[in-house]
Amino acid sequence: MFDNIQENKTFKNLYNGEWIVSKSGNTIDIYSPNDNSCIGKVQAFEKEEVNKTIENSRQSQKLWADTPINERASILHKTAELLEDNLEELSQLLQMEIAKDKESSASEIRRTADFIRFTADEGKHMEGETIFPDNFPGYKRDRVSIVNRIPIGVVLAISPFNYPINLSASKLAPALIAGNSVILKPPTQGALSALHLAEIFNRAGLPSGVLNTVTGKSSEIGDYIVSHEDINFINFTGSTEVGKHIAKVAGKVPMLMELGGKDAAIVLEDADVGEAAKQIVAGAYSYSGQRCTAVKRVLAVDKIADTLIAEMNCLISKLKVGSPLEGAQITPLINNEAANFVQELIDDAISKGAKLIIGNKRNNNLMYPSLFDYVTTDMRLAWEEPFGPILPVIRVKNTNEAIQISNASQYGLQASVFTSSIKDAFYIANKLEVGTVHINSKTERGPDHFPFLGVKASGMGTQGIRYSIEAMSRPKSVVLNIN
Ligand code: NAP
Ligand code: G3P
Repeated sequence: MFDNIQENKTFKNLYNGEWIVSKSGNTIDIYSPNDNSCIGKVQAFEKEEVNKTIENSRQSQKLWADTPINERASILHKTAELLEDNLEELSQLLQMEIAKDKESSASEIRRTADFIRFTADEGKHMEGETIFPDNFPGYKRDRVSIVNRIPIGVVLAISPFNYPINLSASKLAPALIAGNSVILKPPTQGALSALHLAEIFNRAGLPSGVLNTVTGKSSEIGDYIVSHEDINFINFTGSTEVGKHIAKVAGKVPMLMELGGKDAAIVLEDADVGEAAKQIVAGAYSYSGQRCTAVKRVLAVDKIADTLIAEMNCLISKLKVGSPLEGAQITPLINNEAANFVQELIDDAISKGAKLIIGNKRNNNLMYPSLFDYVTTDMRLAWEEPFGPILPVIRVKNTNEAIQISNASQYGLQASVFTSSIKDAFYIANKLEVGTVHINSKTERGPDHFPFLGVKASGMGTQGIRYSIEAMSRPKSVVLNIN
């Protein structure tokens, strides 16, 4: 099914329904984080090709906007079906390209198919409203505003490496059902998986040019594409650093941004410590901690800290470390630089007196899961996002200290509170400066129709199926005079 998107493992870009190569002949090699083998090449598009793509997307959007929503929805349903039909192949590709463990790779595909179906159905309920004027002072019932939702135009979707299929589709599907055309700029590491997704949308019957892809060096085409005047919306997921940069250079264009996080799990004295340990370990170490919503620090009340750490240590020691192809749960990080960064945080914490409970073992970019106790606020590990399998425990005296440390972070994505007191849980939830608080469970994005948002340096705007459709469409009011 995917033979047409590549030639000798050199992958092309989708342009106006065809798979094309760059005129320059330049490509970028993609290496597997598992064994550093070259698994393919992607096109290095140049500015002129970016221009051509945007123009094609702009033209194609007009017809798509006129396509009945039920027809758009049928194409999305077909896309979901094709994704599931190709689950095995796509899941193996994720294991090779981003070293995602086998179970998470398969679940990324299943979840994406469910996401697309739900979006198709939700889109059918994108209804407008009529508003009469006479509830505003000085007006009588002499006109009516007929409000409809219409597309925004050309959406630029920029996705990160850690969910190249899911976090591409979670932008594409809501944008498309709303009648926009989309240019997908996938992560370079993850591009092969994302290009397969694009072909699935193409095969499902999306009209030519409604979805185009652009791969290339961010240093060459990144700023150019985000600041292009014919891009009408930017939907970005990635690091806070790149997100802030894009917001600066893009100018006056609406944006959704999902950025980094430092999600805290607050564990109080009256928590079910065994259950908290299970949730925290699952939340911190799945996909080796390379999730924006991973639990990235534990704020444990002193009295239960020893028990919690013992329980977590026991669970961590059972995690299988190695290659995703051999069924490991803790798999190599995306590249060596990522592993070096995690190592820096470990070394800094140890040099400042943190106590290593387990881990601090490394084989190139394969980092064993680490747990640290007695992490203090002068350590980088207390504040920086490692994006690796490492978890600091910061001991706190009481609830208020936990809230204070949680809120002192630049990030504000999510947090968890573990307690048997519903009153304390709500007290803390109300005080935390984050998008979502989970009570007695780990931090996570799903289910995908819940609102998903970060505050402070963690994002801008709200995702979640209905919220994303609303963000990538706008009201249009036609006022009928009925005098
Ligand atoms: P990243 O380095 O920020 O890259 C994200 C995307 O931006 C990639 O497609 C990248 O392309 C592109 N990019 C980089 N510079 C650009 C520029 N100047 N103009 C346009 N595009 C540009 O992030 P990542 O390493 O892939 O992902 C990890 C980070 O994402 C973590 O911080 C994590 O917390 C965050 N994240 C957040 C969420 C959330 O929902 N809050 C979800 C997932 C990940 P190249 O690959 O070609 O550089
Ligand atoms: O890092 C990706 C972010 O969106 C988290 O998703 O489902 O792993 O919580 P999830």
